[in-house]
Amino acid sequence: MIWFGGDYNPEQWDESVWDEDIRLMIEANVSMVTVGVFSWSMLEPSEGNYTFEWLDRILDKLHAAGIRVDLATATASPPPWLTHNYPEVLPVTEQGVRLQTGSRQQYCPSSPIFRRLATQLASEIAQRYASHPALEMWHINNEYGCHLSHCYCDISAAAFREWLTNKYTTVDHLNEAWGTAFWSQRYGSFDEIHTPSAAPYFKNPGQVLDFDRFSSDELLECFRSESRAVRAISPDVPLTTNFMGFFKPVDYWKWAAEVDVISDDSYPDPADPDSPMIAAMSRDLMRSLGSGKPWILMEQAASAVNWRDVNAAKPEGMMRAWSYQAIARGANGVLFFQWRQSVRGGERFHSAMLPHTGTDTASWRSITQLGRELAEMPASSDRISRSATAIMFDWDTWWSIEQPGLPTKLSYLELVRGWYRPLYDAGVSVDFVNPDSDLTAYKVVIVPSLFAVSTSSIEKLAAYAESGGTLLVTFQTAITDESGQLTSSGYLGALAGTLGIRIDEFFPQSQTQEVLLDGTVGGGVGTMWAERLIAQDAEVMAQFSAGQLQGYPAVTRRSWEGGASWYVATVPDNHLRKAILQAVLTDGNVEGSRVAAPAGVETVVRGQQLFVINHTDQQQEFHLHPDTEGAVPQEHALEAYGVAVLREDKGGPEFP
Ligand code: GAL
Repeated sequence: MIWFGGDYNPEQWDESVWDEDIRLMIEANVSMVTVGVFSWSMLEPSEGNYTFEWLDRILDKLHAAGIRVDLATATASPPPWLTHNYPEVLPVTEQGVRLQTGSRQQYCPSSPIFRRLATQLASEIAQRYASHPALEMWHINNEYGCHLSHCYCDISAAAFREWLTNKYTTVDHLNEAWGTAFWSQRYGSFDEIHTPSAAPYFKNPGQVLDFDRFSSDELLECFRSESRAVRAISPDVPLTTNFMGFFKPVDYWKWAAEVDVISDDSYPDPADPDSPMIAAMSRDLMRSLGSGKPWILMEQAASAVNWRDVNAAKPEGMMRAWSYQAIARGANGVLFFQWRQSVRGGERFHSAMLPHTGTDTASWRSITQLGRELAEMPASSDRISRSATAIMFDWDTWWSIEQPGLPTKLSYLELVRGWYRPLYDAGVSVDFVNPDSDLTAYKVVIVPSLFAVSTSSIEKLAAYAESGGTLLVTFQTAITDESGQLTSSGYLGALAGTLGIRIDEFFPQSQTQEVLLDGTVGGGVGTMWAERLIAQDAEVMAQFSAGQLQGYPAVTRRSWEGGASWYVATVPDNHLRKAILQAVLTDGNVEGSRVAAPAGVETVVRGQQLFVINHTDQQQEFHLHPDTEGAVPQEHALEAYGVAVLREDKGGPEFP
């Protein structure tokens, strides 16, 4: 089944409202609500004094109504008494500012006091509700690191030293890894090391990278501490914490194995025409994090959010289209932040399932329509097949390639999106993988700018291509090792031989520069990057055709038995990128989409279901390729923001 519901914060309301909430939830076919995310001060008004009675009452009511509960450990926002009694829990910014209470998430992730008190509350809640009949799932904390991921206080510094001691054992190893011979940074003992707080000039790149890793790990320790306590009491109930798509501070590859259910919060901007692609990419990441397991869309907005400069409302149909997109890409739940729109506090103007303006509204009609449809929806496949194509995504690279002091300023996410976009447009399914993933089942692996990478990962990519996989690697790959260090023997490591190329020098391009390209794979323009490249054992598929690098290779290909390895030395324009990808997919024998659909119409296959989603505000038509769908009518029309779900096994369009 597909869960439908949202965050429910009954503590914001007088109890007299609760019965109406439940009545309307039933009307909307709500099947699960997340309760208690921000309830700490209402559940433990002073240290060790618990007031669970109100939560008992609402959980009982929800149960009586048949609504399941994703019960939070309530630790996302420490109550004022906590930081009043223990001010050292308050986090400190890079600039040395201690953040105050009065908002949310004001805790140092390394604080032993915070962890102890949060774990204590999680444990009390687990004890009280482990056998409550409404309980479906545990929701640990909320959006770890959303506002506060890196803390620079003294407690964090001590924890960082401990983390470094575990990693390097001796300070000499650390000095070696961080290259502290540079600028007189050599440490005599671990005691001399601090967090990389504000400094006069460039900080040590190895220190900053380790601090990013440490910060992600410290949040994971907070999660582990609470989840251990909950699991000890309630081992059979699945547990989740909500991720935030491609969220830089937290390495979700590391976290994914520790949750039973992957869940994600997703707030694409309704005013951004790229939003469907951006959202699709996050949903593919969520599916990939769980190795193809269904996941839950834990939060989305019914309409506008309240945290952008201008908070665009969703036109009618968009919320539904994006919900089906999540299901198509592996979600088994569509939930919202939040059930009833707040009238107090910082999120008064954030939309909700039940708006300020009540039930005689377009927004409420959209919610109830979706709830009805999902309640009737035939089950989607839980065995989501692996895609033939993968894109590599790596947090170490994200943290490294955006540091200052590099050849140019790059946005890793933009580089990755650049390769995802044409595949999305063409309806080609993509999984995300990381440098440790098993690549052997993929026909094509695309590696955009894998900047910081270990020798063994480079060798693995090389072996993948040389044993029949089709590999596409782009500029700024295999530049540093996992400590951020380079060698004096050039770039690319073992991949240089696999790709059949040598990099002579980087030529980063300014925002306004373009480099012209032509060649057998196609011509066009490149931006942001160029390099003087020597093709030693590779075919030149496109070269720079003007300027300083005229005649030098820009796109190369080396054949290997059963596959090929490609290299792209610039950011190609869309047209050229499509031509390159087409050639790469052909090399890898990846089949194209079975649907011919105009721009803005997304097609996704999940099990036996083919989802076609019109993200435009116009009616659109699409065609199924005649050879694939015997009995299915070939031409379909989709209204603005319309969705069609076609089932292969039923021989025709079935739903909605
Ligand atoms: C999320 C959070 C929710 C709510 C929502 C608003 O970050 O988990 O509690 O604040 O954003 O968009």
